Amino acid sequence: MKWSELFTSSVGKKWIMGLTGIFLVLFLIVHVGLNACIFAMDGGVMFNKAAHFMGSNAVPRILEIGLFAGILLHIVQGWSLELSNRAARKKGYAIPMGNKGSKWYSRSMGLLGTLLFLFLVMHIAHFWVPSRITGLDPVLIDGKEFHNLYGEMLQLFQGNLLVVILYVLGCFALAWHLLHGFQSAFRTLGLTNNRYLILVEGAGALFSILVPLVFALMPISMYMGWIK
Ligand code: HEM
Repeated sequence: MKWSELFTSSVGKKWIMGLTGIFLVLFLIVHVGLNACIFAMDGGVMFNKAAHFMGSNAVPRILEIGLFAGILLHIVQGWSLELSNRAARKKGYAIPMGNKGSKWYSRSMGLLGTLLFLFLVMHIAHFWVPSRITGLDPVLIDGKEFHNLYGEMLQLFQGNLLVVILYVLGCFALAWHLLHGFQSAFRTLGLTNNRYLILVEGAGALFSILVPLVFALMPISMYMGWIK
């Protein structure tokens, strides 16, 4: 395959989807791990310190540029693949297969991805923009000033049921998107050995349920007052 075909052929586009998808899965592991510090029940001290480390060091800041580029590429190629799939589907199969050929969420990756994109636009406006651009209130920890990202989360989720529901719906979309996407990425990149495929499918299912569940517990716990 030529380099240019990575962006023009459908096999190339699927490769880009797989590679950027795995990169985004790695980001989710870091993101959910760092955010889980809010469950330390220490008034956000550990979380604010961890977020400060990510925001003030060169390596995470450079990776952040790669992250936004990766998200953009994943979305653009995803929409482009969705359009070619729709054109192919118009021709149709001789016998419609319904749910027998594939699961509904495998056939709805474009829709689920678009819902996630809408979630991300709202989410970036809630946290990334104040954290990096418009500014956040400071909080004193051990005599040093930190951005109070924890306070920002509390303020957003406490007493704001609509936002909490939108975040939980975003987590559902993420779970279904990952249920197909995780194992699909490994198949596209050439994993064909049946024994490893079973392992990847198992790890994929676990990841797709566990990570969105932990994310969803964050707004829910703050709304319910389980963490303050
Ligand atoms: C549902 C619970 C979630 C909470 C409470 C949460 C919280 C946060 C916070 C506080 C930030 C700002 C970090 C900083 O500026 O240092 C952030 C950034 C970000 N989040 Fe989330 N997040 C959640 C779920 C998600 C999900 C499900 C995704 C992806 C599908 C996601 C993608 C991002 C991205 C791309 C950024 C910007 C990159 C960065 O600065 O690290 N988040 N999130």
